[in-house]
Amino acid sequence: MRFSVIPYPEKIEITPGRAVINHLTPVACKRDERIVTEGYRLIFNENGFTVFSSDKRGEFYAFQTIKQITAGHKNYAVPFFEISDSPKFSHRGFMLDCARHSFSLDEIKKVIDAAAMLKMNKFHWHLTDDQGWRIEIKSRPELMAVSSRRKKSTFGDVVDNNAYCAFFTQEQIKDIVNYCAARYIEVIPEIDMPGHTSALLAAYPELSCSGEKCEVETKQGIFKNVLCVSNEKTYDFLYDVLDEVCELFPGRYIHIGGDETPTDNWQKCPHCSKMKKEKNLASYSALQGWFTKYITDYLKFKGKQAIVWNESLKGDYLGKDDIIVQRWMDKENLSYDFANKGGKIIESDFFHYYFDYPFAMTPLKKAYRFSPHNKLLNSNGRKNVVGVEAELWTEFVRNFDTLCIRLFPRICAVAETAWCKNKPKYKDFEIRQLMLNDLFEQNGIKIVDLNEWNPNPISSLAGLIKFYKTFVTADVIKDFFIPDKKN
Ligand code: ACM
Ligand code: ZN
Repeated sequence: MRFSVIPYPEKIEITPGRAVINHLTPVACKRDERIVTEGYRLIFNENGFTVFSSDKRGEFYAFQTIKQITAGHKNYAVPFFEISDSPKFSHRGFMLDCARHSFSLDEIKKVIDAAAMLKMNKFHWHLTDDQGWRIEIKSRPELMAVSSRRKKSTFGDVVDNNAYCAFFTQEQIKDIVNYCAARYIEVIPEIDMPGHTSALLAAYPELSCSGEKCEVETKQGIFKNVLCVSNEKTYDFLYDVLDEVCELFPGRYIHIGGDETPTDNWQKCPHCSKMKKEKNLASYSALQGWFTKYITDYLKFKGKQAIVWNESLKGDYLGKDDIIVQRWMDKENLSYDFANKGGKIIESDFFHYYFDYPFAMTPLKKAYRFSPHNKLLNSNGRKNVVGVEAELWTEFVRNFDTLCIRLFPRICAVAETAWCKNKPKYKDFEIRQLMLNDLFEQNGIKIVDLNEWNPNPISSLAGLIKFYKTFVTADVIKDFFIPDKKN
């Protein structure tokens, strides 16, 4: 007997007897200090459900299991059972980019509810990028007046000539933080730096190397206009922003981006070049490392831990205690070296966990089968993988319907990898997913048809051609597939 639960529990024992489960089945909760945090024991017998856990978190997860079993096995007798369950990874995350396209609080809450049901515990909220700044910073009102507004949007060949303007007020952010906290989800805000900063530079051009006026970007891509890391004012600005961010987000982690940062402007900037020389740095990438360490130390002083994308490791400046590295695309495998030497990493592989790409590129089966324990990790490195994360960038995700199509059910595959110590076979997962589709739909998440999940090779090819023709420009392909020059 397989139960309709995602992620599948670690151990289920069937015991004598059976009964119908429904919403009237009584539930009793008891404390058992021997159970690990987030873990639980769940007994179903003639008395209904009894939940054992050492804390409220484990109890919450037992309730998610009950909810799924009740939904998936409606109106027929289920054998009595006993479940013992606890997670594999401590970081079970999902990321939503609200910079390219933003979503309403209600829509975001629907995603949070689904993630909570999947026992995920980290919401990585991408709030700033070239195409928009989406978090209210009271000490810097120009961020809302200028940086949160782009004149038009041209993502691939889809052009929208209307202005796009959005940001979350601090009250709205507190609402999301509290909503997540009630579901044992920590919100990790991402304030991307020193690159992906065109939106903030539109309001504060003096923080770039050239100081030239610029605009909030209207297209996708990687832009050379990055923060000048030798300018005192850059740090004053970032401290102002981070002070408010640290107040708003009570969790331990702040994501400071660090991805896709061209060094061209630093190379041309006399002040950045002088700084590189004075600090005896081997490369301009090491200058990014120096900058990141500086910000990381500031965050440490405020009791926070920085997370960065893997590019921050280029230049070999940061140590294992400075940062947690989120690996997404790392041609030089620096993240695995970092983990092998004791640094912590989160796995979000581009080819498996980037769900802004269609099923034609990343079928559900492929996402499901991905192992976060790469062959390049030694036994120490394997222990340093703290978890996995599903990513949803939104250049090509303009509304909630598309968000659902892209994220579900692939996020469920990531949740299962994040939780299960012995992940079941794909087919087993697929059947459970089908049993749970109605539950997601009752919670406002439309799940695409089964025949879309794993397209056959011909429809994959057709889907890929259509996607790339519509959305991805030659520049983007070049950035992804041609190795970076050393600098
Ligand atoms: C990223 O996808 N630029 C982290
Ligand atoms: Zn500079």
